[in-house]
Amino acid sequence: MTKSDEGKTVSYWEASENLVEKDSLNQSIETEVCIIGGGISGLTTAYLLTKAGKKVVVIDDGAIGGGETSRTTAHLSNAIDDRIYRIAEWHGDDHARLAVESHGEAISQIEKIAAAENIDCDFLRVDGFLIEAEDGGEDDLQKELETAQRLGLMQIEKASRAPIRDFDTGECLRFPRQAQFHVLKYLTGLAKAVEANGGQLFSGTHVTEWTGEDAPEVKIENGLTIKTQQIVLATNYPLQSRMFAELPAYRTYVIGAKIPKDSVEKCLIWDNADPYIYVRTQPETDYDVLIVGGEDHKTGQAEDFDARFGRLVQWTQKHFPMATEILYKWSGQYLETHDGLAFIGQYSSSEPNVFLITGDSGMGMTHGTIGGMLVSDLILERENDWAKVYEPTRILTQSITEAVPEILSSTVPYVDWLKGGDVSSADEIKNGMGAIISHGTTKIAAYRDEDGKLHQRSAVCTHLGCIVRFNSLEKTWDCPCHGSRFSTDGCVINSPAIAPLAELKEE
Ligand SMILES: Cc1cc2nc3c(=O)[nH]c(=O)nc-3n(C[C@H](O)[C@H](O)[C@H](O)COP(=O)(O)OP(=O)(O)OC[C@H]3O[C@@H](n4cnc5c(N)ncnc54)[C@H](O)[C@@H]3O)c2cc1C
Ligand code: FES
Repeated sequence: MTKSDEGKTVSYWEASENLVEKDSLNQSIETEVCIIGGGISGLTTAYLLTKAGKKVVVIDDGAIGGGETSRTTAHLSNAIDDRIYRIAEWHGDDHARLAVESHGEAISQIEKIAAAENIDCDFLRVDGFLIEAEDGGEDDLQKELETAQRLGLMQIEKASRAPIRDFDTGECLRFPRQAQFHVLKYLTGLAKAVEANGGQLFSGTHVTEWTGEDAPEVKIENGLTIKTQQIVLATNYPLQSRMFAELPAYRTYVIGAKIPKDSVEKCLIWDNADPYIYVRTQPETDYDVLIVGGEDHKTGQAEDFDARFGRLVQWTQKHFPMATEILYKWSGQYLETHDGLAFIGQYSSSEPNVFLITGDSGMGMTHGTIGGMLVSDLILERENDWAKVYEPTRILTQSITEAVPEILSSTVPYVDWLKGGDVSSADEIKNGMGAIISHGTTKIAAYRDEDGKLHQRSAVCTHLGCIVRFNSLEKTWDCPCHGSRFSTDGCVINSPAIAPLAELKEE
């Protein structure tokens, strides 16, 4: 089954640039490194390995760059989302310093690759500003500043306001030498460079299984195989892993508003609310697009999409009154970790030939790039100080009081088994909408397409049996337990689930 994009929102990047479509794999092959996933994590790894002379194959079941990479807002930052002081509390000062440095080096790596490969991707160095939220912020800017100073990160400093003419942000923290870029222009350039270095890219090729140990092998849906020496799991959620409890999935929302050219100063803004607002601009020929994101929630646990976009528009127009025309609205998914840092490195000691890059924590542009740098060093047997920071098998240091709400929110949705359906019969489902129908103990995920045709699958998530819920914004079935998502024809869009929603006769 191939992924269907029917009905999903279109991000600024998808609308303005083509994704890289390649041929599907049509014969079994052998390689040195097989990378599953063609987002920023997989392609950065492929680029660095092919540059070092490795024979590399990248496989993606959608378009190259068509995963969460195409849904991003592409802030490039070392202002850690969970705050440097929390990373220092959870991991110690040395690891916190290394984490900040690694994000900074990831930004420089992107800048270096774009220059070396002549990738015209609107890369621009800008300052970033962490501002106080209007209400409900954490009041932790001073603590962040003091931690930065203690760690010797003297470049982070207090500013009286962010340099935006019409929006008096009040006192804030300034993070210099952050950056922004056009992520799909960058990825298109990266894909070309990988091929020029001898790498092979395949899209529309769904991986069903991999085995690590002595003779690593990747299995494709149609029975083809890739024999390889090493496997890199760059599938956002690591395919076939059991890390779902460590990787809670969240959805976040973005609007893109048309504003007069240069009417907003170029910088990155984040406030300190939870969830927080994130802001940047992107140049077009005759105008700029003001990109504002926020309103996050756990996947499958909210349906009030219009209200969420409404609040983003209201906030934007209050602070940027020139933003009258909203051109884009989209949503996407990210994976948190319980201790603020990604998991990057060897999958397990029993499978030393398998590597993973996951747990973007909302910083997947830099975490994905760090992933490419670190995993390529591990494969090439080069020392890298970041290995101990991002070690996937590390013991998590989050306290139990912080972990319990997360565990509960993944378990409570199982009560959906006891509820009736959303509707009593498929006749009540309008075109373009989906609903759960309950027949005794059978739960059906029923979707009526725009032409009125009914598509029905089992509503039981193939991961651990939660009942999926209809996402009317993206026209998908989202699982409220651990973030798996399925298209209306049942294909997996986001793991941990691997198998599609069952056909009804199979249930
Ligand atoms: C709205 C939004 C805003 C964001 N803003 C920022 C930001 O400003 N800065 C930042 O740093 N990060 C941001 N992020 C996070 C960042 O975009 C992501 O973490 C990052 O793009 C993930 O890249 P990836 O390569 O790891 O995964 P992906 O881009 O999702 O790539 C994984 C690929 O694996 C493929 N795949 C999965 N399963 C299979 C399979 N079985 N077989 C074959 N292929 C498979 C998928 O098709 C996909 O293309 C944001 C995310 C969202 C949603
Ligand atoms: S994602 Fe775990 S049960 Fe659905």
